[in-house]
Amino acid sequence: MTNKITCYLVGMILLIMAACEQPAATNELDSKVSNLLSEMTLEEKIGQMNLYNGFWSITGPPPAEGDAANKYQHLEEGSVGAMLNIHGVENVRKIQEIAVNNSRLGIPVLFGYDVIHGYKTLSPIPLAEAASWDMDAIEGSARIAAIEAAAAGINWTFAPMMDISRDARWGRVMEGGGEDPFLGSRIAAARVKGFQGNDLSATNTIIACAKHFAGYGFAEAGRDYNTVDIGTVTLYNEVLPPFKVAVDNGVRTVMNSFNILNGIPANGDRFLQRDILKQAWSFGGFVVSDWSSGREMINHGYARDLRHVAELAANAGSDMDMESYAYINHLKALVDSGQVDMSVIDDAVKRILKVKFELGLFDDPYKYCDPERERELVYHDAHQEAVLDMARKSIVLLKNENNLLPLQKGSQKIAVIGALADDNNSPLGSWRISSDDSTAVSVLKGLEPYKDQISYAKGADLITGPATFLQKVPINESDKSGFNEAIRLARRSDIVVMVLGEHGFQSGEGRSRTKLDLPGVQQELLEAVFEVNQNIVLVLMNGRPLAIPWAAEHIPAILETWHLGSQSGNAIAQVLFGDHNPGGKLPMSFPRSVGQVPISYNRYNTGRPDALDLVFWSTYTDESIEPLFPFGYGLSYTSFDYSDLSVEVTGENQVSVEVTVTNKGKVAGEEVTQLYIRDVVASVVRPIKELKGFQKYSLDPGQSRNVVFQLTEAELGFYDGAGNYHVEPGEFEIMVGTSSKEGLNGNFTL
Ligand code: GLC
Repeated sequence: MTNKITCYLVGMILLIMAACEQPAATNELDSKVSNLLSEMTLEEKIGQMNLYNGFWSITGPPPAEGDAANKYQHLEEGSVGAMLNIHGVENVRKIQEIAVNNSRLGIPVLFGYDVIHGYKTLSPIPLAEAASWDMDAIEGSARIAAIEAAAAGINWTFAPMMDISRDARWGRVMEGGGEDPFLGSRIAAARVKGFQGNDLSATNTIIACAKHFAGYGFAEAGRDYNTVDIGTVTLYNEVLPPFKVAVDNGVRTVMNSFNILNGIPANGDRFLQRDILKQAWSFGGFVVSDWSSGREMINHGYARDLRHVAELAANAGSDMDMESYAYINHLKALVDSGQVDMSVIDDAVKRILKVKFELGLFDDPYKYCDPERERELVYHDAHQEAVLDMARKSIVLLKNENNLLPLQKGSQKIAVIGALADDNNSPLGSWRISSDDSTAVSVLKGLEPYKDQISYAKGADLITGPATFLQKVPINESDKSGFNEAIRLARRSDIVVMVLGEHGFQSGEGRSRTKLDLPGVQQELLEAVFEVNQNIVLVLMNGRPLAIPWAAEHIPAILETWHLGSQSGNAIAQVLFGDHNPGGKLPMSFPRSVGQVPISYNRYNTGRPDALDLVFWSTYTDESIEPLFPFGYGLSYTSFDYSDLSVEVTGENQVSVEVTVTNKGKVAGEEVTQLYIRDVVASVVRPIKELKGFQKYSLDPGQSRNVVFQLTEAELGFYDGAGNYHVEPGEFEIMVGTSSKEGLNGNFTL
């Protein structure tokens, strides 16, 4: 007995000591949450776990049960924790007033929206921003998105998406940070900081959402919502790092994914949501399901019915139910029957209430509802300037034979050809649902200052009918009636700028493609124009890597301009005419053919890597295994020379790396120096190359810079299949250079 009492007393002392160690603010916040929780009925608690879509736009399949009247009633009953797809101060205030004034406890509602790359003023799609490798600019872009969204009543964005992917067939690559976990992690941190800022109680910060947890980007065959079947070494080393960095940077929500992982749908996965996220990583925010990812566990064959969905999801750690209507309809009965413990409910509700307190919503539920601020900040001129800068930095120069670019101001007769040159809608990308269609600066509009030397011919339509967020894009696969006009114009011009690629709604959610070539009749148009004028600058406008081997071989200059957002045309014009020297680098490999996909630079060596004559090697009989343009690749209007690489082991798991970079050209330019390592022999096979550092900087003509990296345990190790991190002694190769393919090589031994 004495022992037990002693243990109890020691336990109590430890508990009191722990409580004393916590900062007062956390204690105060926790007690506010606990006090409110203690007043809540079970129904009201379950209400906080319920996220309803608004009454207008949808971003997923609308469920049968959802209807507006039902939702108003639930708002009055205090059964709505959050709503999505409602924006605009007036609309938000209207809903918030019902929740705060009519429900028993007046708990404010969260308002979530997919502010993926801007609210009204749109920055480039996230994959384009990733091509900038400029973390400050990316953070600034998210900051502007938060300022505009917050001014419009939104306090929660379902971003950043941080799904690593090597498969350009998957339409959502446009939404992420590319194929590499190191770059993807840096981008995740920058965007979380941009959205959430330093003070969530401020009126211009909003909570962010790390999504989609986890593995969604590895959907088989690049088919959206498809099965994911990856090993845990890939999970720990490729998929999870960006999420861990987001959690370490204070992200307040995580959205689970649609896919199964090891046979379990993420929404019902205790290992992911509790063991890793909430236990191992000590994540203190809340998990929200993706749109009906709960209900879809029935389709997966993991849940019998909606009641079983609610039981599995709640017990697995999914705290809030988006549009499955599982929690609102079945959780009470599950708690009453003991199938879901009240402690599960209390933990979920505490997490949700804590975020609402952090946002300051209990102090002022209408803090985001100032019509004056909405009028002043949305579409603010300063935001246009900032997204223009982001757009310029996102452009990648893929080819520039004989320095065809930049174009000469005033002297050249320039033909501009392609439907996308006159498209002010596609540059907004597919995740522009909060903004206004057709508000981008088109290429032609951006080229207006040079209108005296420019003539335009469409050549061919890209689409044959309306293209919207919810429908498949009708591509023109046959009408070439505009070719002759374009050919005539090209024949009489000095140089041709062809703007080709994908419609803005050809990438994004639900937009997987089996081909990666130029859609429709665009390739034929390009070759027809090439017949009469070889001085072609190809301006690509696309939401994913494309397979353009013919263009790469024949076309002298190629600019990758993605979907660059509101200021697209101005950014492209400034790069075309040399007012801005492009410095972007590819965040994803561009394949030679779709048959190579999935493809990435950080592949494994395999047991038969050598491409010798015999067939018994890990190669193709009809294609190289190398990409058309590699990860990290991007040219400039100047050139950079690398010299004097030095590598020194300076301590245990400490390596210092230095290289000298010199601008050898005639114009200033930005370079991204990249550092890659290879752990040659390890207890878990390691990729032939892994990005472990990068630095972006500008150099004037003739200027040199000593670029220094410090490698530490964080960069030198890897996770084994059980999630244990190792730094192992042995030989390492290192490459420092201008892309994943080109640089100076060295090695070191730990
Ligand atoms: C969508 C997407 C998710 C988005 C959510 C709400 O289906 O998968 O990324 O945030 O639903 O619109």
